[in-house]
Amino acid sequence: MSNPTHTKPEVLVTRRLPQAVEDRLQRDYRPRLNARDEVYTSEQLIELAADAAAIIPCHTEQLNAEVIARLPDSVRAICSFSVGYDHIDLDAARARGIIVTNTPDVLSNATAEVAMLLLLGAARRAHENARMLRTNNWRDWSAVEQLGIEVTGKRLGIIGMGRVGRVMARRARGFDMEIHYFGRRRLDPETERGAIYHADLREMLALSQFLSIHCPATPETRYLINAERIALLPDDAVVVNTSRGAVVDDDALIAALTSGKLFAAGLDVFNGEPDIDPRYRELDNAFLLPHIGSAARETRDAMGFRALDNLDAVMAGREPRDRLA
Ligand code: 8YV
Repeated sequence: MSNPTHTKPEVLVTRRLPQAVEDRLQRDYRPRLNARDEVYTSEQLIELAADAAAIIPCHTEQLNAEVIARLPDSVRAICSFSVGYDHIDLDAARARGIIVTNTPDVLSNATAEVAMLLLLGAARRAHENARMLRTNNWRDWSAVEQLGIEVTGKRLGIIGMGRVGRVMARRARGFDMEIHYFGRRRLDPETERGAIYHADLREMLALSQFLSIHCPATPETRYLINAERIALLPDDAVVVNTSRGAVVDDDALIAALTSGKLFAAGLDVFNGEPDIDPRYRELDNAFLLPHIGSAARETRDAMGFRALDNLDAVMAGREPRDRLA
């Protein structure tokens, strides 16, 4: 698609995007880019959206009902640079006739890679051991110190066997893990590939030596992992979260990491990012990453192009591939 300048629609892009993505935006639209990459307040976002035909937000902007209600009438589409859409009120968008899209599929591999990184790192105490080395505290080899737990052959419980959950299962099979999953419905046997379905989360938790969270953040999944459910996990379990912080009750997780009920946690997402609960930083058995699930070069390009494909479709009056509302 290539519009003459005077007919090119204006597009508000809330954060800096990969160069190739911004180049394509410059070619096809009149984008309002965010060169300084500062997170806009809701007021700024509403103001900057004046006359824009579309907004490309990230998960860092809250497009809640109040914000959507105040967007200018010019806005026809919100094409999020993310697979998650908990930051967008879909009902409010529908009420205003604004089309909403996301970027599924293209970040499943990258996110599952980080989930596996966290799982391995938490189990083998990567953070503590790396720090010991870097701070010059590695005194000597020891047969009894720095011991983690082996991953190979253990039981992995997956909450949410969607796109990312299924890739995670595939990677975990490479470690001979026994895959269990909980979700709204059972997958067909071909997709399941031997994974064991649990309609009852409690039943799955009771046997999950490792637990990896891949469900979206919704009102139903808020604090799904709370004190009561953590208590059901086997002692010395490892919890991994690459979905959203809101699925986990921080008080409960921190208590279980502190008491030794859990062996470790690997977390890439947090409540209140980037201002995470400071207690996590004090825990040696918490392997923490700053929401880098999709932070791979190819992935971020692909996310941007997918968002632009959706935008192009809406602007051309076609049905966008990843329509949410
Ligand atoms: C993105 C994510 O980096 O796509 C998602 O839902 O959580 C991340 O991988 C982020 O959302 C970009 O907006």
